[in-house]
Amino acid sequence: MSYLPSPERYSSMKYNRCGTSGLLLPAISLGLWHNFGSVDAFENGRSIIRRAFDSGITHFDLANNYGPLPGSAEENFGTVLKKDFPGNLRDELIISTKAGYLMWPGPYGEWGSRKYLIASLNQSLKRMGLDYVDIFYSHRPDPNTPVEETMTALDAAVRQGKALYVGLSNYSAEQTEKAIRILKSLGTPCLIHQPKYSMFERWVEGGLLDVLEKNGVGCIPFSPLAQGLLTDRYLKGIPEDSRAAKATGFLQKSEVTEEKLDKVKKLNEIARGRGQSLAQMALSWLLRDGRITSVLIGASSVQQLDNNLETLRNINYTKEELAAIEKVLK
Ligand SMILES: NC(=O)c1ccc[n+]([C@@H]2O[C@H](COP(=O)([O-])OP(=O)(O)OC[C@H]3O[C@@H](n4cnc5c(N)ncnc54)[C@H](OP(=O)(O)O)[C@@H]3O)[C@@H](O)[C@H]2O)c1
Repeated sequence: MSYLPSPERYSSMKYNRCGTSGLLLPAISLGLWHNFGSVDAFENGRSIIRRAFDSGITHFDLANNYGPLPGSAEENFGTVLKKDFPGNLRDELIISTKAGYLMWPGPYGEWGSRKYLIASLNQSLKRMGLDYVDIFYSHRPDPNTPVEETMTALDAAVRQGKALYVGLSNYSAEQTEKAIRILKSLGTPCLIHQPKYSMFERWVEGGLLDVLEKNGVGCIPFSPLAQGLLTDRYLKGIPEDSRAAKATGFLQKSEVTEEKLDKVKKLNEIARGRGQSLAQMALSWLLRDGRITSVLIGASSVQQLDNNLETLRNINYTKEELAAIEKVLK
C-alpha cells in the first residue's frame, strides 16, 4: 500500500534543541535495534516507522550491527525509505548510525580504528541507500586505540560529506570530556551522547550529564524502558512474544527477577496515580530533566508506540511523586 505522510505530523510532537547546536530532535525517537531485522516481520516494522513519522518522530536510530542478522535493520530501513520516503522527505528525517561493535571478522571489523569506522560507515550508507547519515556515532570507546584517532575518523566522515554531525555512545564522563575536547579542536563539535539511562540504570547521574550540559552536548538515553521491564509487559509473567522470551532478544529471562518485578509493580501503582501507563511514567521521568534531548525507545507494535507517544501529555512531577519513585528505586 502506498504511503502518504499525515499532514498533521508536526501538530503534537515536542522538539528539543540538541545541546547548544542548531538541531532540534523530537522528544521521543525510535530505535531499530530489535524488531526490524531479517528475523522480524517486515510489514510490522514498516507500520511502526510510518506511524512514528506520522506522529512527528523525525529521528530514527540505527547501527551497523542491528538485526539480526547484523546489517539487516539498515537494509530493511533502506527498503522502507525507498518505498515510503521518496524525494525531499529525506530532508524531514534525522537518521543515525554507529560503528564500534563486532561487524565483520578480522582485525578491522570492530572497535575504534579509522580503518573500521570509515569502512563501516561506507557499508551502512550502501545498506540504507543513502548519500549521508545525519549523525554518525562511535558506538563504544576503544581502550586500545588513541581516542584522537577515533575522533579524527568521525571528523573525516563529516568532511567527506558522509555525516552531518557526530556523537558518542557508552563513553564514561571522563572519556566523553576528552573526546569532546578533541572534536572541538578539529572543528567538528560533538552533537550528542547516547548512554543507557532509565529508572533502573542511573550511572549517567554520577557526572556524565554534568559534562554534557557544561559542553552544550545533547543527551539521548537508550533503553529508557529497560528493554520493556519498565512497562506492564512482565507484570503477569513472561509473554511468548516478548523480548525476554525470544531467542534473538537481548533481554535475558534471568533479568526478569522477582526483585525487579516487585519494584515494577510498585512503580506501576504510582504511574496509575498519575493517570499514566508505567511506560509513560518511565519516559516522562527522564524527559522532566532539561538536559535530556530525546528518549530513544524501541517498540514491537504500533500500539506500544502509540502508548509511548501519549507520554508527552504529562511530563511534570510533584515533589511527592518523585520521592515516592525514589523510595521504590532505592
Ligand atoms: N548505543 C547503544 O549501545 C545502544 C544499546 C541498546 C539500544 N540502543 C538504541 O536504543 C533503542 C531503544 O532500545 P530498547 O529497544 O532497549 O528500548 P526500550 O524502549 O527500553 O525497550 C523497548 C521494548 O520495550 C517494550 N515496550 C515498548 N513500549 C512499550 C509499551 N508501551 N508497553 C509495553 N511494552 C513496551 C517492547 O518489548 P517487546 O519487544 O517485548 O514487546 C520494546 O521492544 C534501540 O533501538 C537502539 O536504537 C543503543
